[in-house]
Amino acid sequence: MGCISCAIPRFIRPTITISPSLKLSFPTFHHRTVSAAVYPALRLSEGEEIRSPELVAREYADLNLPDKFCQEVGHVRIRQHVNPLRSSLMVPVEAPDWNVVYKDATLPLMVDIGCGSGRFLIWLAKRNPGFRNYLGLEIRPKLVKRAEYWVNGLALKNIHFIYANATVSFKQLVSTYPGPLILVSILCPDPHFKKKHHKRRVVQKPLVESIVEGLVPGGQIFIQSDVLDVALDMRDYFDAESHKLVHIDSINPDMLCDDEGWLLNNPMGIRTEREIHEFKYISRIYSRYYSKLATSRKRWRF
Ligand SMILES: C[S@@+](CC[C@H](N)C(=O)[O-])C[C@H]1O[C@@H](n2cnc3c(N)ncnc32)[C@H](O)[C@@H]1O
Repeated sequence: MGCISCAIPRFIRPTITISPSLKLSFPTFHHRTVSAAVYPALRLSEGEEIRSPELVAREYADLNLPDKFCQEVGHVRIRQHVNPLRSSLMVPVEAPDWNVVYKDATLPLMVDIGCGSGRFLIWLAKRNPGFRNYLGLEIRPKLVKRAEYWVNGLALKNIHFIYANATVSFKQLVSTYPGPLILVSILCPDPHFKKKHHKRRVVQKPLVESIVEGLVPGGQIFIQSDVLDVALDMRDYFDAESHKLVHIDSINPDMLCDDEGWLLNNPMGIRTEREIHEFKYISRIYSRYYSKLATSRKRWRF
């Protein structure tokens, strides 16, 4: 996949060489469903030259995803942001028959909004068969086609991708899902840098309200961006729901934050492609992780 939301245009980005003096610090993992530590792919030999696609391939090596695709998928090359305000994308998509797309449609659901290639979600789905379902929403049809092609190849029955504008389709989709919604992630959304284009950003008030409303008590929200302005924008939206959400560090002392309230570690056990690109350019990822407050003593356990 092309690098679509980078602050640095591709042609002026340097190729880095990992020097012995550059310390690679990898996060520790606190996510309960992920048992094995990852990133073995990033044990780089001294002086080794790496390109972002190679880093991605190494990190997701155990998925063994084919590079070559059937004619139907074709070549996947992504360059430009999609304008989600296009009239054709403003109509909510119809929900699928969940009993057809998942083996057990009553399982707790994780939704990844703007899932890109889908590798991140496929990695999680492969590790959690039989007790969670995964749904990726993506506005680029080719990425969805390719992700579904990979899922079929891996014969996974707990993951599905939908071509949709999440901002307008999320509510309709999750409200028809038979099981509980337990986790929503929005990871490195397209930044739409120009102020006049901020309204194209995926995180808007109605989406935030739908997420908070759709989650079960104790359900969680993981957001992150490599662009501080975008991270702050998302943070403002979710912090404004403080009567319904709490930030995770206040209930889980293992989830450490810096002085600004950004998470110090990746809680998922795997990085998204965007995160891997950022690692290469040694910039920063700003993450927050919220939990929905329980209204009664009853709290969803997972
Ligand atoms: C920068 S990429 C990040 C992909 C992935 N989350 C990651 O961290 O590697 C943002 C993705 O969000 C998708 N996207 C943007 N607006 C969207 C929308 N309104 N609904 C669904 N997907 C959207 C883009 O097509 C793109 O694939």
